[in-house]
Amino acid sequence: MIRPILRMGDQRLLSPSQPVDDLHAPSLRELITDLFDTMHAANGAGLAAPQIGVPLRVVVFGSAEPRDNPRYPDAGHVPLTVLINPVLTPLSFEQEEGWEGCLSVPGMRGLVPRFKRLRYQGVDPDGTAIDRTVQDFHARVVQHECDHLDGVLYPMRIRDLRNFGFSEVLLDRKSTRLNSSHVALSR
Ligand code: NI
Repeated sequence: MIRPILRMGDQRLLSPSQPVDDLHAPSLRELITDLFDTMHAANGAGLAAPQIGVPLRVVVFGSAEPRDNPRYPDAGHVPLTVLINPVLTPLSFEQEEGWEGCLSVPGMRGLVPRFKRLRYQGVDPDGTAIDRTVQDFHARVVQHECDHLDGVLYPMRIRDLRNFGFSEVLLDRKSTRLNSSHVALSR
């Protein structure tokens, strides 16, 4: 079921979420279905449970087919993933700035620093361990989604708020100053 997505300003987006302790709960299956339905309806690159008002440590992200997200056409492929109780470990201090949007901050983009390489661990809905080492856009998506579980929205991480604005307006800048290889700015 497609659920309403909470928008920035809602206190529920600022609260830390709780770990999932029962992978077999029917309500967890329903939550995952709703997260996928809602993410796909909005063409999101990812979605976290608190964004639909459920304070549990569950995120979904990625896509079944490479390069099928119109919001991020230049990004590398991130496999469709359900990640429960995630643990993130940066693999170096190196950070990179890249443009992000968020379904809870509609119509806007901001330039956000993220760790370039990281390991993430957790479990999938069957209880199978997930343990991946990723970089670039994949690493960015995971950091963005897992931030939601700690009540952090990407605008809170923007270093220079001059690099925050409406997507439609920022597009004009893409062809000039921001046309570097690691920038994935799109509608
Ligand atoms: Ni988001």
